[in-house]
Amino acid sequence: MEPSEKITPDWIRAAKACGERIAALTAYDYPTARLLDEAGVPVILVGDSVGMVVLGYPDTTEVTLADMRHHVAAVARAKPRALVVADLPYHTYQTEQNAVANARLLTGAGAEAIKLEGGVKVAPEIRALRAAGIAVMGHVGMLPQSVREEGGYKVKGRSEAERERLLADALAVEEAGAFALVMELVEPELAREISVRLKIPTIGIGSGPNCDGQILVTHDLVGAFPWFRPKFAIAKADVASAIRGAAEEFVRQVRGGGYR
Ligand code: KIV
Repeated sequence: MEPSEKITPDWIRAAKACGERIAALTAYDYPTARLLDEAGVPVILVGDSVGMVVLGYPDTTEVTLADMRHHVAAVARAKPRALVVADLPYHTYQTEQNAVANARLLTGAGAEAIKLEGGVKVAPEIRALRAAGIAVMGHVGMLPQSVREEGGYKVKGRSEAERERLLADALAVEEAGAFALVMELVEPELAREISVRLKIPTIGIGSGPNCDGQILVTHDLVGAFPWFRPKFAIAKADVASAIRGAAEEFVRQVRGGGYR
């Protein structure tokens, strides 16, 4: 299923039926969005992970709607063939009304779908977004916006009660009308079971190989944030060393008077 045209939420949903696995990566700026698009990545997420890997916050909870709009607009200027999905940041979707109003701010900046965290609890907001014509990607399992309450990034679905809760969350997100579901740090056997149960594609991160797709923070994939990388993320490049090396050489040449 080689996409030759613009990727849409319907294309992503249909990919599962065709057995096509979905590769998704994050971008927060114009050049990265262009490069990912040129590489054939079908989904670009303007994630609120921008808070950690670009803005220097300890987690995603300080990212604002204004931050997200700024980065969504930069990515959208690349006019990618990829679907541009944007995170609704922390505390911007507590009611159906503010979920829709805030999602419209992101779609106004160029997002083609929005992502929000939670399952059963956010099903009314997902329904309201769908009723307003906004495509929604769900996100269950470890919820980074709840990391402070949760006390860290821990695998979900190890106990029977948690397994049942996660399955109910995944089904609720699908039933509310989402076109895809991110599963973060879900115990791999449960991730496989949920992927079989759902008609919409699951996109895993740290949830084992048996999801319908995989998503990574691009900085982790390319080694651009060397101070922390999750264990499950295998770096395919070392951009941090390339930047450091180029800067060191520049400093050496300027100091030695050899730069022209
Ligand atoms: O913000 C983000 O980048 C995400 C992915 C890690 C799924 O939500």
